[in-house]
Amino acid sequence: MVFAIALVLLVVGSVLFHLLSPWYLTPLASNWGNIDDTIDLTFWVTGIVFIAVNLFMAWCVIRYKKSDGNTADYEPENQKLEFWLTIFTSLGVAAMLAPGLLVWSDFVTVPEEATEIEAIGQQWHWSFRLPGVDNKLGTIDSSYITEANPFGMNPDDPNGQDDFLIASNELHVPVGTPVKMLLRSNDVLHNFTVTEFRVKMDLVPGMVTYLWYTPTKVGEYDILCEEYCGVGHFAMRGRVTVDEDADYQVWLDDQLTYAEILAQPVGDPVAGASAYVVCAACHGAQGEGNPQLNSPKISGQDGWYMKRQLEYFKSGARGTHEGDIFGKQMIAMAATLIDDAAINNVVAYIDSLPDVRSAATVSGDVGRGQKVYETCAACHGSQGQGRWALNAPRLSGMTDWYLVTQLKNFRKGIRGANRKDMYGHQMTMLAATLADDQTIDDLAAYINTLP
Ligand code: CUA
Repeated sequence: MVFAIALVLLVVGSVLFHLLSPWYLTPLASNWGNIDDTIDLTFWVTGIVFIAVNLFMAWCVIRYKKSDGNTADYEPENQKLEFWLTIFTSLGVAAMLAPGLLVWSDFVTVPEEATEIEAIGQQWHWSFRLPGVDNKLGTIDSSYITEANPFGMNPDDPNGQDDFLIASNELHVPVGTPVKMLLRSNDVLHNFTVTEFRVKMDLVPGMVTYLWYTPTKVGEYDILCEEYCGVGHFAMRGRVTVDEDADYQVWLDDQLTYAEILAQPVGDPVAGASAYVVCAACHGAQGEGNPQLNSPKISGQDGWYMKRQLEYFKSGARGTHEGDIFGKQMIAMAATLIDDAAINNVVAYIDSLPDVRSAATVSGDVGRGQKVYETCAACHGSQGQGRWALNAPRLSGMTDWYLVTQLKNFRKGIRGANRKDMYGHQMTMLAATLADDQTIDDLAAYINTLP
């Protein structure tokens, strides 16, 4: 009797859990409603069988319970029963699988009018490429990939000149337009998933895979990598924003084409020198940094990184957290640089300053730090030299106490918690893997030993 009650409770509990559980599919935001329908159908078929089998078992336990004089009947063959069991099982299995085959056929048949967008995955970062006005993506090849050409663009292909290169985790797509994503990996297996779109597909090195969807709801959705791709796998996130057409155009107009990137004006260090006077008050005349004023060394830092941080301070993506006292000061300072040209100029000036290595101030277990650094090296480079293609700034020879402060800030969410700071967000996830303050010191001590 106890066993029968347990079986009934199991059925009731499972059904209630399914109905009341908060862990259900995210709201659908694409055309793939029929994927949800097949999931529902699978739930119905397996659910009905689950309930029927368990209640039947409970009934049998009570109906045929042991009593004196009650013996079991041995009946190994029952043609009628086997016939109906075969029919119902086949129908159930077919009901689950057949609709899936139809949906799969839709999934691999891309509509003619779909816009092609390429997504490139590499440990642990997404970037994107959109065709320009010619609607054709230029050819690429991994043999072209260099620090200056992370997309591997073929410089001789005229079709590639107007391609938009988005070296960022953030993609925008217009609502209501079918999109074909071409998926390419630069290193290992990854997987492109947007749960609200119900789409996912592996990225396989050496081939281009694809998927398609039509976004139906304006909003922001997370891009997840759902294929284990190394220690930073969990931090391989991106965001796709579905825009109304007008907003999409505004975003697209802001993106740079391959030709524009090649022709980007370089900043003027002479013009930047006067703007630098404000920076010099804290960061020093040579950009050497000043620990008394909590100002890190900026000479020798990657220009693209300083540009991005200055833009972050200006836009409020960084320095707005109440715990970020020195970041707040930078907001006021960054505001004195009125436009992109001013930022380019001052960065060009900083680039012209002598790069003198900062003195070590943090001590720790170098051997332990070296082990921890293996994860950092994937993006920041084995020598801590920084890698533009991975949006990772230089670490070696810079200010160690500043590195320690920033890692602690990332860990506490003082830096990187702002939704506009996608790379900072990635760092909050990675900094969370640093067990304690001692680990951070060990790491900084090891980085001090890098050339
Ligand atoms: Cu890329 Cu997991």
